[in-house]
Amino acid sequence: MFPEQRMRRRRRRIIQPLLRETELRKTDLIAPVFVDESIDVPIPIASMPGQFRHPVDGVLDHCRRLMDSGIRAVILFGIPAEKDSGATAAYASDGVVQRAVRGIKRGLGGMAVITDLCACEYTDHGHCGIVGETADGPDLLNDPSLDLMARIAVSHAESGADIVAPSCMLDGMVRAIRQALDSAGHTDTLIMSYSSKFASALYGPFRDAADSGFTFGDRTTYQIYPGNAREAVMESELDSAEGADILMVKPAGIYLDILASVKRIGLPVAAYQVSGEYAMIKAAAERGWLDERAVAIESLIAIKRAGADLIITYYAEDAARWLDEEQ
Ligand code: PBG
Ligand code: ZN
Repeated sequence: MFPEQRMRRRRRRIIQPLLRETELRKTDLIAPVFVDESIDVPIPIASMPGQFRHPVDGVLDHCRRLMDSGIRAVILFGIPAEKDSGATAAYASDGVVQRAVRGIKRGLGGMAVITDLCACEYTDHGHCGIVGETADGPDLLNDPSLDLMARIAVSHAESGADIVAPSCMLDGMVRAIRQALDSAGHTDTLIMSYSSKFASALYGPFRDAADSGFTFGDRTTYQIYPGNAREAVMESELDSAEGADILMVKPAGIYLDILASVKRIGLPVAAYQVSGEYAMIKAAAERGWLDERAVAIESLIAIKRAGADLIITYYAEDAARWLDEEQ
């Protein structure tokens, strides 16, 4: 107690750097990369200033720039030229993601390549797997979609992906993918499961960016209601039991309580600072209402403090530069 205990003694300017409890490192950061099969030059994404869709041929150069800034991992999202009800372009050996992975691994072996593993960018209805009639009307079918996920996973691994990241929130997806990868000899390919993924309105800008919006219904029969914490932790526990190597909480910044709980399971945890979180900071900064750099770094530090081992963020490249400038 005061006066023996003085908290401010430890906040003297000279002492501050010595007592930082949380340090953000460049190797904590994963950069999302959008690859569009139908373009020849990078196209800016209107709802996410500073972010682009890249052509397949341009993705290696973009990854080189990221590597130069100190980013060591990317997560790829593909935008195919053709969509259909079975997401066949998602597992084509010459598909957009498969070509991009091969290009990056060939040209930049030191970059860890993660692939988002979902069907919503590849289906004409925009849902995350196979759709059919249920007792409640048309919806995403669970078990018939598992084969599709397994097939996409194997094709990503075959192209050289280091980590596959299933984001469809199907029951049994991690088990199905692990079995398929192992049977195909890809025992060293990691699974980073989007294990606790909420039905969030913060994915809006991403759906424009990846052209992955749905044509009917919503995603609330597979993603988690924002108020359900117990259910969210149980989802991550199940994925851990099914063989996930890395768990994930998504979105990140307004789900820090979930992140802290999932951390206790014991596996490494990634947090996804999603498109809407990025867009909110960008928009306020553009109006001069917030200091972009300060708020972005604070948001990443807070996510790390809550328990994230890895952070997927559209700020990855900027943050890497800002961290360099702080040295
Ligand atoms: C696809 C997927 C989504 C995001 C990542 N993978 C969108 C969705 O579930 O609708 C969101 C990423 C972001 O908003 O930055 N299943
Ligand atoms: Zn999806």
